[in-house]
Amino acid sequence: MSVKIKYPYNPGYPSVADLKKRAKWRIPKFAFDYLEGGCNEELNLARNENDFDDILLKPQYLHVSGDIDMSVELFGKTYSAAFGISPIGLQGLMWPNAPEILAKAAAKNNVPYILSTVSTSSIERIAEVSNGEAWFQLYHPTEDRLRDDILNRLKAVECPVLVVLVDVPSFGLRYREIKSGLSMPPKMNISNIFQAMICPEWGIKTLKHGIPNFATLQPYMEKGLDLSQLGQFMNKTFTGKVNIQKVQAIRDIWQGPLVLKGITTQEDMEAAISIGVDGVIVSNHGGRQIDAGESSIHSLIRLTQNTSYASKVKIMLDGGIRSGVDLGRAYAVGSDFNFMGRPFMYGVGALGDEGADHTINMFKAQLYQVMQQLSIENIKQFPSRLL
Ligand SMILES: Cc1cc2nc3c(=O)[nH]c(=O)nc-3n(C[C@H](O)[C@H](O)[C@H](O)COP(=O)(O)O)c2cc1C
Repeated sequence: MSVKIKYPYNPGYPSVADLKKRAKWRIPKFAFDYLEGGCNEELNLARNENDFDDILLKPQYLHVSGDIDMSVELFGKTYSAAFGISPIGLQGLMWPNAPEILAKAAAKNNVPYILSTVSTSSIERIAEVSNGEAWFQLYHPTEDRLRDDILNRLKAVECPVLVVLVDVPSFGLRYREIKSGLSMPPKMNISNIFQAMICPEWGIKTLKHGIPNFATLQPYMEKGLDLSQLGQFMNKTFTGKVNIQKVQAIRDIWQGPLVLKGITTQEDMEAAISIGVDGVIVSNHGGRQIDAGESSIHSLIRLTQNTSYASKVKIMLDGGIRSGVDLGRAYAVGSDFNFMGRPFMYGVGALGDEGADHTINMFKAQLYQVMQQLSIENIKQFPSRLL
């Protein structure tokens, strides 16, 4: 007898690897290289994924367990699963309209989507399509005036969570981007135009949605800025050098949940806790900033050795998570909530408008299966299954 299993997602693409394979030939190479690349020799990029393999989980088959509930409470809201979508700059360049596709699907499936300051849809548009559910990631502006204006816009749309990025004091040196001629902003040379022409769906949709731009930042740009001036504008407008005083100033203005993204050391964790942030995302920017760094899962393992942190802040993770099994591994070593960046862009690149919904449901199905196999009912029980 054969039993047909009904998947809540497209069964042609049951894994991140399947999505990545299809996305790679549908997205022009210069944009795919931007998505894919890590810094320098890409060692930390590889470590981010590979270090998950050493974390083993053990079942308890004779343990009686009840129904599985993947939902989790975070910052006063109950999400349907403990994972969300990391902020990614220039999303609409990799797949036209990607921020809206992702933000809509995240809201529909009740998981968080984080909009990047340098994404290609505005704060207001994303608030509208996500029914006010999207979080926002702030690159720290050089001038307080601009910082305050962005915070006021976030308050006006009742953004639920502010994420301040702390891990880009320099531009990561990414060889793939340098070779493709892609930097901030993108350059369209002959080779890039050719690559775009052999990806017809990407091309047609780019014509439909318009050339991507930094939509949130439009009000601060002079009219008629050309591409080279845009680069200068970005350098002048944002400073990656975020110290604790700057975060303290934001803490004083922003009453809602405040999260720092890019925490990997005990020193930064303690500084964050000292000024009363609500959460941290342990992250190395997807292996794009420091090649000699450890994987983000190893940073998490080190940080959660100090058991006092868990009662003071929500500890979240991103970097290298590629499956429901990896999600479970991260909860097992102490993560409260996980985010993924590239996998969702592969999903949208591979399947267009359906891709975000597909990828969320794929991860939910994978996580559900792991929980069933380990005989656990909720994600808080994962640590008891760490081998
Ligand atoms: C193409 C690309 C662009 C990114 N842009 C941003 C950004 O604008 N803001 C930010 O906080 N992080 C950014 N990140 C880092 C992601 O938020 C996240 O930390 C990383 O993708 C997690 O690793 P993963 O892709 O292995 O899941 C970017 C990552 C990638 C791959």
